[in-house]
Amino acid sequence: MRKNILAPSMLSADFKILGEQLKQTEEAGAQYIHFDVMDGIFVPSISFGMPVLSSVKGFTDQVLDVHLMVTEPIRYIKDFAACGADIITIHLEACEDPGKTLDEIHACGVRAGISIKPGTPVEALLPYLEQADMFLIMSVEPGFGGQAFIPESLGRIRELRDMLNERGLEKDVEVDGGIYHSNVAEVLDAGANVIVSGSGVYKGDIRKNTAGFMEILRNHE
Ligand code: DX5
Ligand code: ZN
Repeated sequence: MRKNILAPSMLSADFKILGEQLKQTEEAGAQYIHFDVMDGIFVPSISFGMPVLSSVKGFTDQVLDVHLMVTEPIRYIKDFAACGADIITIHLEACEDPGKTLDEIHACGVRAGISIKPGTPVEALLPYLEQADMFLIMSVEPGFGGQAFIPESLGRIRELRDMLNERGLEKDVEVDGGIYHSNVAEVLDAGANVIVSGSGVYKGDIRKNTAGFMEILRNHE
């Protein structure tokens, strides 16, 4: 049985009370903290980086799921590993040599993920199916929280899960962008098992939002 995981995206948190809000997601059952790093080049916006990760590390027992929206992320893998990342996901489109970058993540003792933007064909992941531990399908253009889920993403999730199943690979498929209580069931049914949500968790009652997601996730295991 595949385990479903909720990864609330910290990008939508209120940073003046960040610790308190992270605890609320943990207490309501969210297993991961999704940590979005943006460099202002691969994506237009700039978010946060190493010092914030170090500060969050160990504050909760949640897994630190670091999503690098950064050009040539190989330059920073050691730094993010040293700051406590448990999973590092890089973008296929951002790397000259994605395979080498995934190797670098593994060499640091960290789980390695690879992500594609909505316009990148799913088959581009084929060379990395064995190597990566997690595959992230972006269901919005990376760069900002609060965007609408792109419906074509469902077919892309299915395609990826089929590619993995055909090869007997039981790996994590993460989906990120525009996911709420209202559409998460479809995303799970398509084959995803790691659900990122920023606005869907942090806008409004965080405990209630998290608990609502967890109930749907458990019902789909
Ligand atoms: C977007 C980020 C997402 C974002 C999701 O580039 O990678 O993780 O925070 O936010 P929502 O759930 O609001 O679309
Ligand atoms: Zn993200």
